[in-house]
Amino acid sequence: VKTIAVLTSGGDSPGMNAAVRAVVRAAAQSEINVYGVKHGYYGLIHDEFVEMDTHSVSNIIQRGGTILKSARSEEFRTEEGRKKAADNLKKYNIDALVAIGGDGTFTGANLLSKEHGVNAVGVPATIDNDIIGTDETIGYDSALNTALEAIDKIRDTADAHERMFLVEVMGRDTGFIALETSIASGAEIALLPEELTNVEEVKRQLNNMLKEQRRSSLVVVAEGDETGGAIKLAEKIKDDFSQYDMRVCILGHIQRGGAPTARDRVLASRLGAAAVKVLIEGHSEVMVGVVNNSLKLTPMRVAISKKKELDHSLIELAKILR
Ligand code: F6P
Repeated sequence: VKTIAVLTSGGDSPGMNAAVRAVVRAAAQSEINVYGVKHGYYGLIHDEFVEMDTHSVSNIIQRGGTILKSARSEEFRTEEGRKKAADNLKKYNIDALVAIGGDGTFTGANLLSKEHGVNAVGVPATIDNDIIGTDETIGYDSALNTALEAIDKIRDTADAHERMFLVEVMGRDTGFIALETSIASGAEIALLPEELTNVEEVKRQLNNMLKEQRRSSLVVVAEGDETGGAIKLAEKIKDDFSQYDMRVCILGHIQRGGAPTARDRVLASRLGAAAVKVLIEGHSEVMVGVVNNSLKLTPMRVAISKKKELDHSLIELAKILR
């Protein structure tokens, strides 16, 4: 392997910069040239290649977002778009691609491999934590802590005014952020896409709490919950709790920003360096992950085809402790 390209694609996540840094520095260590591709697959098609060296990734490990920028490219979904991308990789004599992102990113990399024989390795980075083959994705821990900090603050004001808050967190169609923030914040209820939500049951539980004279309550709602999110849930239950001064708060994109936590920086550093190592060893169409503190390779087609499940013992724990 003489020359590789690295890109970040899809929703950004804290730690992507740390991963880019690790790819560039591990490659430099093995005398491999690196091109950074700006704006993900869009830049691959439109020739946004920049040469990178160890200095170009100085002072980025602590920064959120991605210095390579990210985008979602409709053009890359077409065969013609992917052909242009593959031609550009050939033009720069690039032997392999490191794609940092989530399942959409890996789907793209997998198609490039299948259709044009491009060697590709995936590095899992998304706040949603919805990728199998790794215990955690890069950015999940940071998003969790950002959401938790916000929820703790909401609890203070909820308590002061004896209010009920419905707080919506991200996670697309998975409940990883919702489940773990609800446990860590001591939320009264968590609504998860992985479980059927019975609105009558939610009302019953909230009523029981009122009877027990709990005067502030927090309901963490995953954005992908079947009720349709916190605003819709509020509409469905507000008439039954008119005596309660209910408020809705949608945490939104603050969960995607900010400095990565130490755990995410270390994970990103491990996975970025591992991606280069496995390419040198001759692997392709795989995703690098960390499972039980050991490096694990998962075929990219497997990583994109199976849904990661929540830990059911944590769901039970949340119910016991509420
Ligand atoms: O996949 C990351 C994520 O932040 C999801 O949690 C959320 O549903 C989605 O991206 C939001 O996407 P956008 O930034 O395009 O609104």
